[in-house]
Amino acid sequence: MRKRASAVPAPEPAPDARRLTSIREPLLAWYDRERRDLPWRRTKDPYAIWLSEVMLQQTQVSTVIPYWERFLARFPTVEALARAPLDDVLAAWKGLGYYSRARNLHRAAQEVVARFGGRLPSSAHALLTLPGFGRYTAGAVASIAFGEEAPLVDGNVARVLSRLFEVEGAPGDRAREARLWELADALVKGERPGDLNQALMEHGATVCRPESPLCLLCPVRGACLAFQHGRVAELPPAKVRAAPKRLTLALAVWTHQDTLLFARRAEKGLFGGLWELPAAEVEPEAPDATAATRLSDALGVSVTARAALGTVQRQLTHRTLTLRLLRVAGRQRPTRAPGFHELRWCTPAQAEELGMSTAMQRALDVVLGSGVLDSGVLDS
Ligand code: ADE
Repeated sequence: MRKRASAVPAPEPAPDARRLTSIREPLLAWYDRERRDLPWRRTKDPYAIWLSEVMLQQTQVSTVIPYWERFLARFPTVEALARAPLDDVLAAWKGLGYYSRARNLHRAAQEVVARFGGRLPSSAHALLTLPGFGRYTAGAVASIAFGEEAPLVDGNVARVLSRLFEVEGAPGDRAREARLWELADALVKGERPGDLNQALMEHGATVCRPESPLCLLCPVRGACLAFQHGRVAELPPAKVRAAPKRLTLALAVWTHQDTLLFARRAEKGLFGGLWELPAAEVEPEAPDATAATRLSDALGVSVTARAALGTVQRQLTHRTLTLRLLRVAGRQRPTRAPGFHELRWCTPAQAEELGMSTAMQRALDVVLGSGVLDSGVLDS
């Protein structure tokens, strides 16, 4: 019987040693000359390096630097972080966004203390068993902090490798991802794996940029297949993003003397574990009375709507968020509620200590600017 031709393309062969060397050597030399002087590149402390990698995952270098410095001053060791209340950790993360990173960091610190005596394990394989560690973070910490030949692929590295090796397929395509990890693995084998990984990331961030890449300054142009074939602008193809979902939340603005009511969310989901003006999801055009009913359900006591104080819009990566500020009052002032982990009545000064998302902080600014706490009127 004749063999049928398979529909699955043959796997790409591994690049040969000469080609790998023709990329590794100029890239490392370029990194030695051009690398940015970043504070986490001056330390050998694996905890500090781990922290930088977590913060850098969805946040720009310039934003991360002051957060990283403050966070380390406040929680200087894994043990200090593990002992701290989650609330304090979330408060130190305030403004960085993607708070699940902070929750995982805190849980992982506790596991490092419990399972590894307070010292981060040194292999990517062992790091992967900790909360919040995916392949990227495990590869980054193992290679940069411990010198393991562990690969990593982030968005910058994916772009650099797609161009150098002319890897086809869009971001998210399984075969493409597998090929990129294979290439990163082949390239990282050798001396200075941490520097090689950082050189790839640095190159993607500063030279092999998504728009207007600086090919004339590129140290590995001679080895770049996309450059040779005039395809730099088309590789990698843009990611097809789902349209962000709309989410409308009604926020209860409930004053009592010089305090406002705040609630802490359950730990899972959007803004999990963070403090907020008590929020309930509503239909975008829901009348204020309906919003008050939703808030009553969440708070477990009946509240009535007194006035709409305005709205705040925030664009998150996957959501368009509308926060509707609703001044409310009720006969019974709650101290616990079915829809929340915890409730607190706080003055504006006390509220500054709460871990709150940037969206919520903006909403609170609008509330305080509206003067609801200045009137001296007691609401309940
Ligand atoms: N992006 C995330 N981590 C990085 C690092 N260590 N160097 C350069 N860019 C990065």
